[in-house]
Amino acid sequence: MTRTPPPEALPQGSDKARAVRAMFDAVAPRYDLVNRVMTFGLDRRWRRLTVAALDLPAGSTVADLACGTGDLCADLAGAGLTPIGFDLSAGMLAAAHTTAPLVRADVVSLPLPAASVDGATCGFALRNLVDLRAFLAELARIVRPGGRIGLLEVAEPSHPALRLGHRFYFTRVVPRIGAALSDATAYRYLPRSVVYLPPVDVLVGAVAEAGFPDVHRRALSGGIVQLLVGTRS
Ligand SMILES: C[S@@+](CC[C@H](N)C(=O)[O-])C[C@H]1O[C@@H](n2cnc3c(N)ncnc32)[C@H](O)[C@@H]1O
Repeated sequence: MTRTPPPEALPQGSDKARAVRAMFDAVAPRYDLVNRVMTFGLDRRWRRLTVAALDLPAGSTVADLACGTGDLCADLAGAGLTPIGFDLSAGMLAAAHTTAPLVRADVVSLPLPAASVDGATCGFALRNLVDLRAFLAELARIVRPGGRIGLLEVAEPSHPALRLGHRFYFTRVVPRIGAALSDATAYRYLPRSVVYLPPVDVLVGAVAEAGFPDVHRRALSGGIVQLLVGTRS
């Protein structure tokens, strides 16, 4: 019996890594513009909340993992912290608008000594990673005991009506905004990539097990975004 593959099956393993890097290289020049438009500017607020939730003293070193064009780095610096950004996409790094040092690196294998940073952030990248547990292990390796993490990611609202409205916006409207302003294929992939994310309890459990036992999850803006905050044990 032959089975027809589902249309536009999502890539896995090394195919996913290649596709993600090519996609972000392609969308980089207009990445910030599309973000502002499709979130009505809320993405700025979510990043600022992430930085505030770290609750670290001024001058603390914070690794921003999968930093993209450096929005979180800029907010971290604005809050008096000392960011270093890491990302795999040369296109995203070239389009960055931050004075923070930026390093081209895979976030599962960072050029940082163990326990060398006071904190780490990661914005909207968890679902783009090939191996989420390997990333969490690397996160636990680089953050010093007592250091803080803030992981920001898309989510689905738990309220059924909100979930329905959000699903419509995310799967029907966002791809059109992306196609009009940037790259149609990339912004068709964006809503579909949510299926890579584990269920909330599994995600929170994995972060706790990795070395952040006090991790807690905040649903932002009615639950369309989630922020996981934790302390390295
Ligand atoms: C949706 S963008 C988020 C960018 C930025 N953090 C923000 O808040 O706007 C996801 C980023 O993850 C990066 N990325 C994906 N996989 C990566 C990996 N394994 N190592 C480093 N960066 C990665 C992509 O290049 C892209 O810049």
